[in-house]
Amino acid sequence: MKKFIQHRFLPENYTSSSLIKFEKLSEHLGVKVDNIDLSKLLTGNQFDDINEALSVHSLLVFPNQSLTNMDMVKLSELFGSTLPHIVNKFNQDGVIVLSNKRDKNGKLIGADRSGMQWHSDGSFRKLPNRISLLYGVECPPIGADTIFASTYASFDTLGKLEIKELSKLYGIHDYSWYWSEYQKIRPPLTEEEKLRTPQVFYPILRTHPITGWNSLYVSECVTCGIKGMNKIDGRSRIIELSELMSQFEFRYTHKWTKGDLLIWDNASAIHKGTEYDNKYDRLMLRTSTSAEVPFLKDIKLT
Ligand SMILES: [Fe+2]
Repeated sequence: MKKFIQHRFLPENYTSSSLIKFEKLSEHLGVKVDNIDLSKLLTGNQFDDINEALSVHSLLVFPNQSLTNMDMVKLSELFGSTLPHIVNKFNQDGVIVLSNKRDKNGKLIGADRSGMQWHSDGSFRKLPNRISLLYGVECPPIGADTIFASTYASFDTLGKLEIKELSKLYGIHDYSWYWSEYQKIRPPLTEEEKLRTPQVFYPILRTHPITGWNSLYVSECVTCGIKGMNKIDGRSRIIELSELMSQFEFRYTHKWTKGDLLIWDNASAIHKGTEYDNKYDRLMLRTSTSAEVPFLKDIKLT
């Protein structure tokens, strides 16, 4: 495997050895890839270049794609095992449906207004989501953006004392808490769904398994507190960290066009959705894969 340099470095626009062109979208994360058709099987070299770019830039944007559910699943499986939504009714042929559209009985056909607060996908899982894919089928012309923020970049702002303090802390990730705090308009989770999502504890600083770079790992809407700290102090520290992580200069905002496929790395970026008018239909397809339990390698403070 390629050895990454110790300090984070993002190359400018470049062409990889498998001739994929990467065009930088913002200072800290995101590259656009124009010249590849993802409905066709990637070669080993193309996948390696895409996976490396994803680990370095945290977000890849592929415009003008034409993908079936099966294409999405096949592409996702290159990155790891695919994960269904916790709520079964949002799963369809291996993909998760996100939508404000309703069927003939007036029921929503997908999860509507999911993830409108900062989060790393599936941080509540025993094996969290690492890579997420989101494909735009019907996209409102205004709103419904997805905003990303680099958590490599926020880590880089930490001083030695803060790193020392945070390297000992574990966030409490709690899906039932998230559902009761942020999804009040949806029916409550079933007992079976609650049983499948017990609290999990992950290091607040984590090391990326491919680049070896460190990042912050907190989901504002899922990390309810800090292990060993009282509820109020723990939650307020989580909010402080979330504000640090989501600073404007670390962000890239994606305005969707039909046919866009985004792939992002939940180990080095957080994201959230923005509001939109229900006079527009929105239909998005998502898949996610798991890879490893978040970990922090020894940090040497010189
Ligand atoms: Fe999300």
